[in-house]
Amino acid sequence: MEYTALVREAFAARENAYAPYSGFLVGAALLAENGKVYRGCNVENAAFSPGSCAERTALYAAVAEGVRRFRAIAVVGAKQDAESFAFCFPCGVCRQALSEFCPPSFEVVVAKSETDFQVYRLDALLPYGFGGDSLK
Ligand code: THU
Repeated sequence: MEYTALVREAFAARENAYAPYSGFLVGAALLAENGKVYRGCNVENAAFSPGSCAERTALYAAVAEGVRRFRAIAVVGAKQDAESFAFCFPCGVCRQALSEFCPPSFEVVVAKSETDFQVYRLDALLPYGFGGDSLK
């Protein structure tokens, strides 16, 4: 799948973002190895800590369907009334959550628009990560 199309999915996912406290709306589109795309948005909560980022919403939706192998994720985020987008990188918790299921070569696509995006490998965004091997 072209990353332009994956970014379009992330913008569509952002439409459902629930962020009444921060006003920062995020959408993510996670491309599985089987070609399926899982959408996620941020879901905030009045108690704050139960909230979820868009990336983890997408990841856990996929895992809940039994899908555990992924190629890439596109992320778009901006304030509700923003006139333009800046690149929105996954937070540290989401990088760690993705690393549980995704290979080092997994690609993170941060986008300002369907045509203006940057691509990073997961191991560039999370070097020296903590994984299952660390527990052996
Ligand atoms: N957020 C995400 O959903 N993904 C990111 O990559 C960065 C931050 C959300 C969490 C919170 O709902 C809001 O954006 C402000 O931090």
